[in-house]
Amino acid sequence: MTGRRPLVSGNWKMHLTHLEAIQVIQKLSYALDRTDRQAVDVSVHPAFTALRSVQTVIDADEIPVALGAQDVHWEEKGAWTGEVSPVMLAKLNVRYVIVGHSERRQHFGETDDMVARKLRATLRAGMTPICCVGETLAQRDAGHTHDVVVGQLRAALDGVDPAAVAGLAVAYEPVWAIGTGRNATPDDAQAVCAALRSAVGECCGADAAAGVRVQYGGSVNAGNAAELLAGPDVDGALVGGASLDPDGFAAIVGAAG
Ligand code: 13P
Repeated sequence: MTGRRPLVSGNWKMHLTHLEAIQVIQKLSYALDRTDRQAVDVSVHPAFTALRSVQTVIDADEIPVALGAQDVHWEEKGAWTGEVSPVMLAKLNVRYVIVGHSERRQHFGETDDMVARKLRATLRAGMTPICCVGETLAQRDAGHTHDVVVGQLRAALDGVDPAAVAGLAVAYEPVWAIGTGRNATPDDAQAVCAALRSAVGECCGADAAAGVRVQYGGSVNAGNAAELLAGPDVDGALVGGASLDPDGFAAIVGAAG
């Protein structure tokens, strides 16, 4: 993890009302105070309805956690019923935006082109994208993991300024490992994260490859985080279920530091 700060992100998905989210961020703040962590960036990604409440608590209590969103639209404004724009998120001090999560690709028909637009819109609004890529079990069994994830990443980064790529995060989340209790092995996680970094090098140059942070995601928990994050190309984790438990999430942060 040469010179890169790990980033541990909690994707709360469609959990927690704004009132529950306030309790979780407060408990997380206490849990992180007790955690021995060094030089780890932490973000939480509440549902849109809870962003403002969580932001207020983070700001008021000066909690060392960045606010994140789970999705964004690519336009600044317009007739897009139900969507949320990058400008709206940036005004709430949102720092990180997940784009291209496999649940959006699978259930909401998000294409590589839409992911690419969302990524560029996030950067334009001054926020950092966390660009998710990952293969299905069928693709893995067919031996296509590297081609699939590198293809998704190349499509997402098409036309993006290499200097911006150095600052962004990529999350390798094998679809078959999400919410299933199954993980990639630490060696697999390292190998795919390394392949993603080399792909960044090919499209965007050595500085971008050295700077980009590549997270692993998929059934990460307090018990397996240290192993999964040990690889030199694994720069932290994108955590779903286990991020809803403040103590467990703080332990993952500790394991990354
Ligand atoms: P789980 O940690 O619940 O497997 O979810 C991973 C994920 O999708 C994070 O974005």
